[in-house]
Amino acid sequence: MNLAADIAGITFPTCIMNAAGARCVTADELETIGRSRAGAIVTKSMTREARDGNPTPRYVTFPHGSINSMGLPNLGYQSYVTLIPHLKTFKKPVIASVAGFNPDEFLEIASAIDATHPHLIEINLSCPNLEGHPQIGYDFEAAAHLLNRLRKVVTCPMGTKLPPYFDPVHHDHMAAVLERCRVDFISVINSVGNGLVIDPDTDTTVITPKGGFGGLGGAIIKPVALANVRAFSLRLQGRIPIIGVGGIETGQDIYEHLLAGASAVQIGTAFVEEGEHVFDRLEQELAAVLQKKGLQSAAEAVGRLEEL
Ligand code: DHB
Repeated sequence: MNLAADIAGITFPTCIMNAAGARCVTADELETIGRSRAGAIVTKSMTREARDGNPTPRYVTFPHGSINSMGLPNLGYQSYVTLIPHLKTFKKPVIASVAGFNPDEFLEIASAIDATHPHLIEINLSCPNLEGHPQIGYDFEAAAHLLNRLRKVVTCPMGTKLPPYFDPVHHDHMAAVLERCRVDFISVINSVGNGLVIDPDTDTTVITPKGGFGGLGGAIIKPVALANVRAFSLRLQGRIPIIGVGGIETGQDIYEHLLAGASAVQIGTAFVEEGEHVFDRLEQELAAVLQKKGLQSAAEAVGRLEEL
């Protein structure tokens, strides 16, 4: 079974990789992904300064989901400038995820990272956990302005990680921005921001930061993820490839992301919970589903969803 994927001219040995944020901050964690069956190494979103992140508890699972408010813990971009050439020796694509607290910071980080030639750069427009910093992906004008500026300095394929949108007019707007800004790929969706989970025993929130509000991941967000993949796929018609993210726990979940229009997928909560063996398991499960459907490759399933 051929599980390879092509995103913006880069070949991925398999279409299954980690999501930015999941076990991908330190050199050790990134090397573990490098040695695993993951089809790429995706870094944690990096900021200008190194960050410890928010106070704990800041990541908790609950039935069928996770909630987190990590607060962008990362080594600071200069450490990743040093690390990326080493990560490339694992012979799979390296995707550097870039965040920032203002446009100039995004520009500084993206320029320095671009000079290390990762295979792709993923611009994070959708971190929900920074007090006083709304998600840029919900401000279409600011997002367009930032992506335009970044496009001028980023030479490798540049994509963006988007928040979930809940109304078709927003999908229309963002799709137009992506085309205008010559974005090479998108990753959808980031966690569903500002959820609230309550501990039934203690009558308290389950995480500390932001009064208990945090980004939701895991199985409960799969329908929102699939809807966003499908909505962008219908609008972009293959001109901008899509990496599907959200709620993937099984090979069937991956198959559904492919049907909705994703060319590859990223694994967040399930990777945090299961560790790197999740990639072997998902690869086997996806191969079995594709075989049962009479397909020879993952690529053949992309966008084949039929409407009733
Ligand atoms: C964090 C960043 C994200 O982009 C996200 O979706 C969830 C959490 C963070 O580090 O807080």
